Amino acid sequence: MFAINDNFSRLPASYLFSEVARRVKAYTDAHPGSDVIRMGIGDVTRPLCPAVIEALHRAVDDEGTAERFHGYGPEQGYRFLASEIALHDYRERGIPMDEDEIFISDGAKSDTGNIGDILSPSCRVAVTDPVYPVYVDTNVMAGRAGRLMEDGRWSNIEYLPCTAGNGFVPALPVTAPDVIYLCYPNNPTGTVLTRGQLEEWVDYCRRHGALLLFDAAYEAFVRTPGIPRSIYEIEGAREVAIEFRSFSKTAGFTGIRLGYTIVPKELKGRGADGEAVPLNPLWRRRQTTKFNGASYLTQRGAEALYTPEGARQSRETVDYYLGNAAVMLDGLRKAGYECAGGVDSPYVWIKTPDGMTSWEFFDYLLTRHNIVGTPGSGFGPSGEGYFRLTAFNTRENTIRAVARLEK
Ligand code: MLT
Repeated sequence: MFAINDNFSRLPASYLFSEVARRVKAYTDAHPGSDVIRMGIGDVTRPLCPAVIEALHRAVDDEGTAERFHGYGPEQGYRFLASEIALHDYRERGIPMDEDEIFISDGAKSDTGNIGDILSPSCRVAVTDPVYPVYVDTNVMAGRAGRLMEDGRWSNIEYLPCTAGNGFVPALPVTAPDVIYLCYPNNPTGTVLTRGQLEEWVDYCRRHGALLLFDAAYEAFVRTPGIPRSIYEIEGAREVAIEFRSFSKTAGFTGIRLGYTIVPKELKGRGADGEAVPLNPLWRRRQTTKFNGASYLTQRGAEALYTPEGARQSRETVDYYLGNAAVMLDGLRKAGYECAGGVDSPYVWIKTPDGMTSWEFFDYLLTRHNIVGTPGSGFGPSGEGYFRLTAFNTRENTIRAVARLEK
């Protein structure tokens, strides 16, 4: 019989959000008609904004004409969208960006999961703890993680704890990792790093020849002046960092899927012969081979976000979620919960009360208050004793959920 990739057998049986969904389904099947408020997975609830809908309709009509029909598109994305991204997300903010450094894709989850394809299986990895589980799980799949230890950590991954004790600011690594994942605004803690703190990371990577994988999926939620929205706002970052962006939370594309990844031309790794090799052509080779490009329709939809109307409408949506986060923070703090995040982020990270474990609190909230959240321990050992709630909901449900939690 043929051999499988045994690394998959080393993983926990199911992906965090699948496990949460399974437990919620079991509960709702057993209690039909229960009024469950879902604040678990960070899935948006507001409809796509009118500018996007109009653009999608026009794109559908294009596909119905012989002249404007689009089949396979460029694997790296259409120029009409890449030029808007380069201009509005970067150059207008003082960050140099060439269109061929932008790789449009079906989302940041796939890209953060796939990026390991262009890295050596022997790279040593560091992650913040708690962390978006995709970074760890995909390194387990690739054989970089070592073995799962009793404390829930993988032996070859360096964990950088982020807890109330250090203000949720990770310390610099001590094991000289080759690859470091940072996500800011952070999923799951909802916290941000200042410019000075990000400068320390870029400086660290430059001194140690490490690659910084910077997930900026939540950048649109940054409202505090001075907090960077892109790692390339930091001098020298183009030589050490890949940045991942998403239209999911920014513009409600979780269902229709779209994101992009920046691989600057200056960024180089080391080949087996010791020579420096640029990563940009490697990622292009990977994408052209394994990916056929995001759909024409979705890219036309995203293009509309860069019109004045689209930009205003999508900002209003993000403001709406930030309003929910403010309601949550206010209500939860008044009720005595210790909370982090929720200011430049859609996530509120709360300390579980009465020493409950994260999964105990999950069960308690689901069964007693019909609220779904995500157990902090699912994001890593340092998430134990914490719980994540999302602001992706209606204002009405947010207010109702907070009222239930206040009880
Ligand atoms: C989350 O809830 O952490 C995110 O929605 C997951 C994702 O973006 O894949």
